[in-house]
Amino acid sequence: MLRTHTCGQLRAADVGQEVTICGWIDTYRDQGGVLFLDLRDRYGKTQVVFSTNSDPALLELSKSLRQEWVIQVDGKVSARPDGTKNPKLPTGDVEVRTTKLTLLNKSATPPFTPGQRDLPGEDLRLKYRYLDLRRAEMQQTLILRHRIVKEMRDYFDEHQFLEVETPMLGRSTPEGARDYLVPSRVHPGKFYALPQSPQLYKQILMMAGYDRYVQVARCFRDEDLRADRQPEFTQLDVEMSFVTADDVMGIIEGLVERVAKKTLGLDVQLPLPRMTYDEAMERYGHDAPDRRFGLEIVDATDLAAKCDFRVFRAAAEAGERVRGLNAKGAAEKYSRKTIDEITEWVKHDFGCKGMAWFKVEAGGVLASPIAKQFKPEELAEFATRFGAEPGDFIVFIADKFEVTCKALYGLRKKFGVELKLYDPKTMHFSWIVEFPMFAWDEESKTWAAMHHPFTAPRPQDLPMLTNAPGEARAVAYDLVINGSEAGGGTIRIHDQETQSKVFELLGIDEATARERFGFLLDALQFGAPPHGGIALGIDRWIMLFGGLDNIRDCIAFPKTQKAADMMTEAPGTVDTKQLRELSIKLNTP
Ligand code: AMO
Ligand code: AMP
Repeated sequence: MLRTHTCGQLRAADVGQEVTICGWIDTYRDQGGVLFLDLRDRYGKTQVVFSTNSDPALLELSKSLRQEWVIQVDGKVSARPDGTKNPKLPTGDVEVRTTKLTLLNKSATPPFTPGQRDLPGEDLRLKYRYLDLRRAEMQQTLILRHRIVKEMRDYFDEHQFLEVETPMLGRSTPEGARDYLVPSRVHPGKFYALPQSPQLYKQILMMAGYDRYVQVARCFRDEDLRADRQPEFTQLDVEMSFVTADDVMGIIEGLVERVAKKTLGLDVQLPLPRMTYDEAMERYGHDAPDRRFGLEIVDATDLAAKCDFRVFRAAAEAGERVRGLNAKGAAEKYSRKTIDEITEWVKHDFGCKGMAWFKVEAGGVLASPIAKQFKPEELAEFATRFGAEPGDFIVFIADKFEVTCKALYGLRKKFGVELKLYDPKTMHFSWIVEFPMFAWDEESKTWAAMHHPFTAPRPQDLPMLTNAPGEARAVAYDLVINGSEAGGGTIRIHDQETQSKVFELLGIDEATARERFGFLLDALQFGAPPHGGIALGIDRWIMLFGGLDNIRDCIAFPKTQKAADMMTEAPGTVDTKQLRELSIKLNTP
């Protein structure tokens, strides 16, 4: 070993010891001929001192040192003089007085240093990821990630789950995104698809009798990226046989309780609250609501239907909805100019036709440029419905239900942040259950699976598959943490008849179903047990437990919004020989 201790290890009790430490030079300062260095590794930082009465050759070498050079220091642990101790550093009581210095490697002048106060731009951080990963925050996140994944593995091991690996090169699984394809050399013109999830393999494992499966699984989805999405991400994938939805949720709740306790020292009250999808859309306009704060949606369609204001009445008469939010005490905060900007934003981003608003004045009177288009008693009814008090700010969206959901969800989120309606450090865990089986896709004029095509309907909703597919609800559950979808799963269909019916509704004809999922349909005929499961988004868990707002900060080597790796410059071109072997001809210039 090139070292006896790490840079995070030495304490007052070690004073007097001869030690050898190695690391990167974080900072150096020359104080009147005495040179101080902070030597850094992933365990911490230790102060290293070269005094003026050191050996001249050593002093000479020490003066040539620069940030990010890698050195080995032999020296004696000394107590720092009183007044120079650093209570912020675990090693802050001591320093190493150098007797020997070995230069292990120089560094070119780095484009940024891990210790610098202002974070460099993300492009630079991703291009020089090895420098970025030297930063304490990145190290803390990767350590947290390791801890959480280890906790997950231990927990499932203690509950008799087996970790089974499933292939990366397989058939396409329908999770709703585009596939990443891999051409086959051996089978010209044929392609493997990288798994969007191990969904079908884990179901096959249930049919094979491995009744408790778990896997830390890589998934690949070619979809539009956002702050909480990566093209390549990791799931904690779970499947169980002979269970109900309650059993699957129960297992995950135990995990939530354990991870929260071990990583944040947080006591989570079980069972976690549950809400149906329909209720979540009514109250929050979204299926992953942030329940750290109230500010719930209020419906006023009935009042709108009988009021004088043309916009509201017309919407109600057309079967649309008139719903709003009361941002308590926010009247002062939002000027006319800001309100106009918010209106433009909801129109542009959510396709609303407009946003009506009122400020509540003394005596609970609703004031707005549109107030004169209502009778006073109508305004009074709206005020009562919204619990209006002087100083409140009330907004309304009149539109199709889906549009009101999107806009009010966006507005609620905005008000939540701007009005500081919650402490960002708190955590809220809940379940959203009973999702619709299908959503109607206007473009293709077909039903699309809300979760995936293997999801079982509630038994009482089976007849609806024929009569009213849009009404059928699934035995589905999503885990929501602080307004993020942190996991999702369902009980599966385990009989071929229902499975075929669902494929048919999704516009997958029998031949296609056989072609793509023949193995599953076959396996369903050989004694498939009732089963169900869930997958947790590990990257999102790290983001939420680490209090981070970007998924790229939770992954050692992430991709940009354009699915590129800035460091390796993937995706890259390949030479014509490789293409020829794969029987591929490009039609790009
Ligand atoms: P689903 O598609 O809901 O379910 O994915 C499960 C969880 O994975 C996370 N997730 C993502 N994280 C980062 N980047 C992405 N692009 C991304 N996409 C999804 C989310 C999500 O809740 N096979 C089913 C699970 C099952 O039914 O058991 C599935 O993959 O946190
Ligand atoms: P208009 O009569 O279209 O000029 O709209 C009058 C007021 O109603 C304006 O303040 C609009 O922003 C608002 N408004 C228009 N359409 C809607 C709508 N669909 N929902 C809520 N408010 C709207």
